[in-house]
Amino acid sequence: MRSIKALTLFSTLCLSVLAADQNTTFKFEEASILDIQAAFTKGTLTSRQLVQWYVDRIHEHDHNYNSVSELNPDIFMLADRADALRKAGKSRGLLHGIPILLKDNIATGDKMHNTAGSLALYSEECRPTKSSTIATKLRQAGALIFGKACMSEWANFRTTDGSGAEYKDPDGWSGRCGQTHNAYNITRSPSGSSGGPAVAVALNFVTASLGTDTDCSIIAPAAIHGLVGIRPTVGLISRNMVIPISHSQDTPGPMAKSVTDAAIMMEALAGQDPRDPLTNMPRNPNKPIKYTKYLNKDGLKGARIGIPRHIYWEKMNRPEEKAVAEDAIEKLKSLGAIIIDHADLPTADQIADTSYGLGGVEATLLNYEFKQDIKDYLSNLKRQCPMKNLADLIQYNKDHADKEMPLFKQEAFETAQNTTGLDDPFYKETLRLNRELSGPSGIDAAFQKYNLDAMFVPVDWAFFPPQPLAMAGYPQISVPIGMDDEGVPFGMSFYARAFDEPKLIQYAYALEQATQARRPPQLL
Ligand SMILES: *[C@@H]1O[C@H](CO)[C@@H](O)[C@H](O)[C@H]1NC(C)=O
Ligand SMILES: *[C@@H]1O[C@H](CO)[C@@H](O)[C@H](O)[C@H]1NC(C)=O
Ligand SMILES: *[C@@H]1O[C@H](CO)[C@@H](O)[C@H](O)[C@H]1NC(C)=O
Repeated sequence: MRSIKALTLFSTLCLSVLAADQNTTFKFEEASILDIQAAFTKGTLTSRQLVQWYVDRIHEHDHNYNSVSELNPDIFMLADRADALRKAGKSRGLLHGIPILLKDNIATGDKMHNTAGSLALYSEECRPTKSSTIATKLRQAGALIFGKACMSEWANFRTTDGSGAEYKDPDGWSGRCGQTHNAYNITRSPSGSSGGPAVAVALNFVTASLGTDTDCSIIAPAAIHGLVGIRPTVGLISRNMVIPISHSQDTPGPMAKSVTDAAIMMEALAGQDPRDPLTNMPRNPNKPIKYTKYLNKDGLKGARIGIPRHIYWEKMNRPEEKAVAEDAIEKLKSLGAIIIDHADLPTADQIADTSYGLGGVEATLLNYEFKQDIKDYLSNLKRQCPMKNLADLIQYNKDHADKEMPLFKQEAFETAQNTTGLDDPFYKETLRLNRELSGPSGIDAAFQKYNLDAMFVPVDWAFFPPQPLAMAGYPQISVPIGMDDEGVPFGMSFYARAFDEPKLIQYAYALEQATQARRPPQLL
């Protein structure tokens, strides 16, 4: 947290100069992107005031939560520049002057680090000089790269046994940050791996954030923080200079307080990128999509929504959640949706089976791909970075076991290190199976059989990999729906087929507007 301290000093020095500027009646807490833009336009708020409010709040309260790993040391300069451009009539759109926090596996190419939570990459030599395409796209849309957020180290891909960790799973712990805590109840896990980005948005430490998802990593922490999270279709948003697990399943996506804010971010993020070949698939739309056009209150009228009970509803284990989830189905009906109950995936049992290969089809795939993909990422860093491949990372952890392995080890790394490359026929067969079980024989089969537009699935405490839509590279959106007995929110999600984000945004918006379920957490 060194840079936060440096920034405290900086902002204290500036405080007296700014005092006159601080006079605004703007209601910062729970402000949406549209609220902020309206205040910018009226002249009752500047980006500098907005950033100052968030920075002060982080300094005052984040020691209880540990959600921000680093603030951009240039943030006030960037805010001033955005204010000056706006004054000159050169606003770049809805994200102009809005601070966005990035998960600490998305390279910014500025003064900040990119570590996936690991001390092995927390050094000047391993700080990326290249910006990820998505950080660049956010800047082009006028957004301010506010800082980096704590995450489960290596996006939960270092250990298979986190039982020594504070919450009996590795969620929210990293060598870089220590333990991140749930914003609603600090005795509970923040979930992960995009825990920090979720906690920070939930607590109004920033307007919105950017997470990444291989399987559940955006959806799960968003749901338990009363947020909207979108896991987009793999290949819709560039992964260039994002620390990977798997090129077949990874995707960045927005985490926000409302469907509207998330849709605004999607417009800035989506698009082809020569540096990420998957974004150039024939089906990837190569012109900007107006996701905000689908924010339609009546959007559920006539939509055919399937309820895949087997496994994906059966796993829900807390009575208070069951009642709310069943009520949510009734809500969809009252909003005009056509519900097709027991629209099960024919392959649900095979997908859940962990006897295949290295712990199941998905787990096997990720082990093979991580070893290659992390090497490719590291090759983009400066030559001086001593970390070149997975073997170097494993050795680093052994050499720094006191700091990196006090709570859990690195069995997942060791398993991945033992894999034999992407030319191995076993890998190719695993890749085929991963797609076949989740896509054509799974989600596609159910969608065809029941003629569905989307499926509706609870995101409760039992929501864990492997999730079929993640394996298929399909999109998902989560929306807040209720609170559990310990004051922690949970959510419902829709999933759809590739590039059906417009439908997801439309359905989620209709449900969100009808339920208004988000309640901000109380600061400690
Ligand atoms: C803040 O603004 C209000 C309304 O414009 C004004 O009445 C008040 O005197 C201002 N306070 C300071 C400290 O400038
Ligand atoms: C990796 O391979 C080595 C050598 O075959 C073996 O001893 C070790 O148990 C394997 N580790 C894992 C985690 O699979
Ligand atoms: C927070 O969670 C703990 C269990 O992890 C529970 O005992 C406690 O009552 C919860 N706090 C509130 C305010 O609900």
